[in-house]
Amino acid sequence: MKRRSVLLLAALSGAATAGVAGACDSGSESPPGGAVDFSNALRIPPLLEPEVGADGVKQFALSMQSGGRSGFLPGKSTATWGINGAYLGPTLRASRGDRVRMRVTNRLGEASTLHWHGMRLPAKMDGGPHQMIEPGATWTPEWTVDQPAMTGWYHPHLHERTAMHVYRGLAGMIIIDDDREPDLPTGYGVDDVPLIIQDKNLERDGRLDEDSVEGGTWGVLGDSILVNGTYGARFNVTTQAVRLRILNASNARMYRVGFADNRVFHVVGTDGGLLERPAEVDRVKLSPGERAQIVVRFTPGEEIVLNSLGETAREAGDPEEDDFELLKFVAAPQLASSAALPSVLGGTPATAPPAGARVRTFRLSGSEINDREMDMTRIDEVVPAGAHEIWEIDNASYAHNFHIHEVEFRILQINGQTPPAYQRGPKDTVFIAKGAKARLAVKFNRYVDPVSPYMYHCHILRHEDKGMMGQFVVVEPGTEDRVPRTLRGHHG
Ligand code: C2O
Ligand code: CU
Ligand code: CU
Repeated sequence: MKRRSVLLLAALSGAATAGVAGACDSGSESPPGGAVDFSNALRIPPLLEPEVGADGVKQFALSMQSGGRSGFLPGKSTATWGINGAYLGPTLRASRGDRVRMRVTNRLGEASTLHWHGMRLPAKMDGGPHQMIEPGATWTPEWTVDQPAMTGWYHPHLHERTAMHVYRGLAGMIIIDDDREPDLPTGYGVDDVPLIIQDKNLERDGRLDEDSVEGGTWGVLGDSILVNGTYGARFNVTTQAVRLRILNASNARMYRVGFADNRVFHVVGTDGGLLERPAEVDRVKLSPGERAQIVVRFTPGEEIVLNSLGETAREAGDPEEDDFELLKFVAAPQLASSAALPSVLGGTPATAPPAGARVRTFRLSGSEINDREMDMTRIDEVVPAGAHEIWEIDNASYAHNFHIHEVEFRILQINGQTPPAYQRGPKDTVFIAKGAKARLAVKFNRYVDPVSPYMYHCHILRHEDKGMMGQFVVVEPGTEDRVPRTLRGHHG
């Protein structure tokens, strides 16, 4: 256990009731690579070219594989897992209206799943814990993309083992386009850049330290930052404005992302799509699973570090006890001109559900939701297709977040207050500080299936694995009372 994490856990064990059993290990006190010098070019995950069949379906071939070797630290090699490569996976890109098919082959040597976080699709295609892919098997979910332009991601979602599979390297980005996008930068890897942010514990010999992944209050809190699987990354800026699609793909850590000079930038999109208009900020807070699309302007020749400040951590009880430098931007002496930021982005405003809408309450404690741990055979909530409901999340313990599969929701209130403008867009994951309450307006889709559940859960992967998850089904309106609450033929 690294020293900073020990301090955090010691502080938490006083405040929180959950047992703290952080595993101990070798104990280096600074990142094993020494001071980060930002000398490594930021890896840009390749765009995966789909095969388009005679039926017009865009087919993406994905191979989940173990046995990779990654060079994170200078001169050191790290054993990792990846998708179509040694670490992380390619970016999947599709447009609204496309029919897509994923051909996911499991070459890990153990069972896993692949979940499409943020995608609107039938529950059977969702890749949650019920869609296990056995070693050597291929799973081919298929759906029609029917949602606005957004940034999503994919990652394993197996019962009780998600944290380890993601930590070893299984995750990738999804970009959905539609033809009504405003004039934002769109050159993939040039001025429209994915940033997959993860923290790891790397040993001096390069080994990925897994000791804390399945233990303690938070699971792993790493002291080395990878962006797109690059340690100490630098990105060469060639345009005046750059869109960054930031994804927090960490197991537990929160980030308050901004620039070392605290410059102002604009948030243009939240998890599920674009905002109505750009929101000016100097920091964006992202908990695990959340995304933000931001547009930032650079001046020729400058060098500036993207960082995360953890100053609010101690009061909030968040697992973000420190400051981190994430990557360095190095601007060319001359920058290609970029269009001015549009004043209107095309996102829709948040609407509250009609009066009398169904209100459901979810109380979060250490590792339970409404005093229950996840049970694969139990349906916790039955939702009529097309519903627009209020979900109230009431956090009775330390920091958590809350993710709902398939839906789009809006944060109506946090602790009775309207959230900041940059969080008012379409969401699927929301941070819920220690003791906080969130009021969400949740829109459900119309893919009915009374025996295939979707998940809602805390996206701190240790919490999710410990059982902080529930299941809901979407059914034909009027049949809510008739659907089974217990699933048969499913292992618990
Ligand atoms: Cu990012 Cu239930 O998942
Ligand atoms: Cu999800
Ligand atoms: Cu949690």
